Amino acid sequence: MRILVVGGGGREHALAWKLSREAEVIAAPGNPGMAEDVEVVPISPKKHLELVDLCKKREIDLVVVGPEDPLIEGLADVLRENGISVYGPGADGAGLEGSKAFSKQLMANAGVPTAKFQTFTDAKLAKEYAKARFDAGKSVAVKASGNALGKGVVVAASFEEANDAIHQMMVGKQFGIAGEKVVIEDKLEGPEFSVLTIVGDQNFVSLPIAQDHKRAYDGNKGPNTGGMGAFSPVSWVHDGLVRQVEETIIKPTLAALKDSGITYRGTLFSGIMMDEGRPHCLEFNVRMGDPETQVIVARLGNGFMNALAASANGEFIEEPEVLQNAVVSVVVASEHYPILSSKGSPITFLEYPVGVKFFHAGTTMIGDQLVTNGGRVINATAAAGTLRDARKLAYRAAAAVSFKAARFRTDIASEE
Ligand SMILES: Nc1ncnc2c1ncn2[C@@H]1O[C@H](COP(=O)(O)OP(=O)(O)OP(=O)(O)O)[C@@H](O)[C@H]1O
Ligand SMILES: [Mg+2]
Repeated sequence: MRILVVGGGGREHALAWKLSREAEVIAAPGNPGMAEDVEVVPISPKKHLELVDLCKKREIDLVVVGPEDPLIEGLADVLRENGISVYGPGADGAGLEGSKAFSKQLMANAGVPTAKFQTFTDAKLAKEYAKARFDAGKSVAVKASGNALGKGVVVAASFEEANDAIHQMMVGKQFGIAGEKVVIEDKLEGPEFSVLTIVGDQNFVSLPIAQDHKRAYDGNKGPNTGGMGAFSPVSWVHDGLVRQVEETIIKPTLAALKDSGITYRGTLFSGIMMDEGRPHCLEFNVRMGDPETQVIVARLGNGFMNALAASANGEFIEEPEVLQNAVVSVVVASEHYPILSSKGSPITFLEYPVGVKFFHAGTTMIGDQLVTNGGRVINATAAAGTLRDARKLAYRAAAAVSFKAARFRTDIASEE
């Protein structure tokens, strides 16, 4: 089997690394870390027709699309129209992530437990609704409906804060057209986790649970980021809870997609918050999580490639083997991430323990020198028999990554 992985971040490096154990893998555009594991071809995920050409020339059997943007922009549709097998939904299914208004309406139609909400295209009406919710003793989350790079959600503690957020999104056009429509929903309260599910025409299979750490600094302080690290397994998210999410959230959502005539083949990422002891769906994403994928792939044995291929081909998906191990990934970031990213600082590796894996997230080459090229630079990842041991190894690996003002959280996986 020959697989094309589309994307060039830490998630795609992890996918390419895992798949390369079972198949020949090409990545576009990839990154310097991926180039050590697989062949990379410098084609942007935006160049749909160039990717079609590449697939034909190289006789690609399966395309795995990593990030959401190409899916929302219809890359999977273009590939399928050309007879190419793709893991990842078409633009219609990708609307679950590309439009929070669509996603919430589908949840409501399907009877999926989710925060009470309304959608607005008029700032005045949105502000009135937020006021009414605060007057009724609730708090709200204000969400840009479109794709705002993970920055389009404000959980407001006061009406003033909600009012400002609505104003900036709808009148100030802070996120451009992504904020022309907003969803205002009641604030839920409780611990969060996410479930990544491989979805096909006949069945679905959920992957092992990984927990990420969204805030920039230790103790869950500081601004939200794309994720500063992850670990798996997560003891408090037991199998029964995952089954409950499948029954109350995933099954009805897939049925509603089908009813709307949407064939969904790819990852369904359900963002869950426990509120009053019951799982509620905060959001869907249509791709795997980053950095959750970096730990999940290291928890899987055989069968991952076959599961993705079965989804892409509309066949029955067999569960991949789950290893009895524990995995921790620590994101080594640049000092001022997420406010500023780092570019062009030389990266070197000091001595590190055997068996750890460095997934590259924001790196590039200048001549022969590996340099930083983003906020999140390297994901230092380690597997062991227990989380405690995996954590020790991952931290020794993270400490071995050296570039100007490198920084990481010191409490990844520490609450377990
Ligand atoms: N109704 C809510 N009540 C409380 N907190 C919320 C609510 N909605 C969102 N949040 C918080 O805001 C975060 C981001 O919300 P959401 O997942 O909808 O946005 P997103 O930008 O699509 O995120 P991602 O980048 O993970 O896809 C959630 O992980 C959660 O912590
Ligand atoms: Mg999202």
